[in-house]
Amino acid sequence: MNRDKAWRKGVIVGAVGMVVLLVGLSLESGRAEEAAKGKLPLEKAFPLAAKCKRCHERVYEEWETSPLSRSLHSPAFRAAIDQYLAFSGGKDKALCLRCHAPHIKEYPDLAESFIKQVQSGDPSIDGVACAQCHLIKEVDRTAHPPMPKYDVGSKTLYGPYKDAAPNLAHQSADLDLFRKSSLCLNCHLTVPTAGNLGTSNDLLGSWETSKAVKSGKECQTCHMPEQLGESANGENKRKVANHTFPGRVGKLRQEAAKLEVTSEVQGEKTKVTVKVHSLVPHSLPTTHPGWASVALDLTIKGKNLRTVHTDRRVYGRKYLDAKGQPTVFDFEAVKVAEDTVLKPEETRVETFTFPTPKDTKSFDVELSLNYAPVAGPSAFLQRIEAESPKGAQDPVFEAVPITKYAENVPISK
Ligand code: HEC
Ligand code: HEC
Ligand code: HEC
Ligand code: HEC
Ligand code: HEC
Repeated sequence: MNRDKAWRKGVIVGAVGMVVLLVGLSLESGRAEEAAKGKLPLEKAFPLAAKCKRCHERVYEEWETSPLSRSLHSPAFRAAIDQYLAFSGGKDKALCLRCHAPHIKEYPDLAESFIKQVQSGDPSIDGVACAQCHLIKEVDRTAHPPMPKYDVGSKTLYGPYKDAAPNLAHQSADLDLFRKSSLCLNCHLTVPTAGNLGTSNDLLGSWETSKAVKSGKECQTCHMPEQLGESANGENKRKVANHTFPGRVGKLRQEAAKLEVTSEVQGEKTKVTVKVHSLVPHSLPTTHPGWASVALDLTIKGKNLRTVHTDRRVYGRKYLDAKGQPTVFDFEAVKVAEDTVLKPEETRVETFTFPTPKDTKSFDVELSLNYAPVAGPSAFLQRIEAESPKGAQDPVFEAVPITKYAENVPISK
């Protein structure tokens, strides 16, 4: 049987298989209201990632370790969405879900039930999973924010291959979009806030004019790096895309910045100059959630390696709410009080001056650049702790190291 025939046969068997599968699904979880409107039940239109795992084990396992797989049930998100719902007084309930569970756009009536799922802490719906990306057939970049168009009810999954091997579960179609930043921008470009912050609620800054982007790099180049592997179980190895979405997690962050340090002992005083070179083609940090920040920590260790001086610079945004009070919740923000975010590929020069350590021939200068832990009102932090099975050990309470520098500076007499 030639490949063409095998393909057609695959489609027929596949179609039959699909019907059986879909009937099974709708019997199990059909929603009367949706059916009445002639709409597919949610689970049928957006199959769970677990359905794809059967054939795409590698992709599934990578995605499962990524933050995307926890977009609905990270303890910080659960605590933050409640904070938002209290703030908005029940208006625009789906706001956070627009990106954390984007299929809400096709099922706006289910906002209440999605939120109950989030609050349960163990949702049986997916957030940003396979179908939520692979059913996108177009992103309208003229809309603000850019809007995805879903091919709901389609048996076609869109992806990067022109020559996907046929299979029994779905048809495949290639779309250039899957190799382009546009696919990511509908969730990563701007987040709505209460006030009209204009362009100041953009998450990426002027990324389009960065050297990396001008040289042809897309979000995928760095955040879904190319590797060799099986795209589906048992298929030939080929170029595949890493679905762990390296960011705060993973090795990519070692490429985020370089520190160039000069230390000058000037008698009683010492001056340390640090050039922080951001190598990131967009804002560092990206500025959502509102508490997102990167900290540069200086530690000076004198005699017997005792810490004699510490200092810190913070890169992030400080927001004010409608009452003029500082807030870490971007959805409450009406004004940016301070913006120290590192701009795309920016070099920021910091100087630290402190008394030269005494009774020692030399001292240590240590610098570390890290993503800062979550910050906010103590009730909010306690809430995250209560929501997390790891309690105060939840990863959001820990700084994530980006890069470090250390040198021993002699004190010449
Ligand atoms: C439907 C919305 C949506 C789309 C489309 C989307 N993302 Fe995301 N992305 C999210 C959400 C929500 C999170 C945060 C998940 C969490 O931790 O709760 C996230 C997290 C990430 C992270 C991890 C960030 C960190 O702090 O470590 C990376 C990297 C990322 N996305 C890259 C991409 C890339 C690349 C694309 C395009 C191929 C993309 N995303 C498309 C919604 C989206
Ligand atoms: C426009 C899309 C978008 C909207 C709307 C949105 N988010 Fe996010 N959210 C993201 C993306 C993208 C990330 C990952 C950001 C990163 O790591 O740089 C994220 C990350 C987060 C995180 C940190 C990761 C985690 O899960 O702990 C929290 C908390 C969060 N969002 C809460 C909210 C809340 C609450 C709302 C509603 C008020 C909301 N978001 C609305 C896109 C969005
Ligand atoms: C019965 C097995 C099977 C199931 C179930 C399955 N796939 Fe596939 N899928 C395949 C095979 C085989 C390929 C072709 C791989 C190749 O050519 O290397 C493929 C290709 C793809 C592609 C690439 C399409 C392209 O043209 O670039 C995407 C995207 C995809 N699948 C997504 C999914 C998603 C999402 C799900 C779950 C909703 C899913 N698949 C369920 C077997 C399956
Ligand atoms: C945030 C959006 C996003 C999510 C979530 C996502 N993908 Fe993808 N996927 C992409 C993009 C973009 C590409 C193409 C990347 C490239 O070629 O540069 C891709 C490529 C693929 C491919 C072909 C290449 C490969 O790596 O095998 C398959 C198959 C696939 N995805 C299946 C899945 C499955 C299954 C899931 C869920 C477990 C999933 N994807 C989740 C965006 C996503
Ligand atoms: C040239 C490589 C490169 C490109 C292109 C790129 N990034 Fe990044 N990105 C990085 C590096 C490096 C970091 C910082 C280190 C880290 O967190 O891994 C980062 C961090 C991030 C983070 C998480 C960190 C944070 O501050 O919350 C998100 C989300 C993100 N990028 C999204 C995107 C999106 C969306 C695009 C496309 C518009 C994109 N990136 C394009 C290199 C790149």
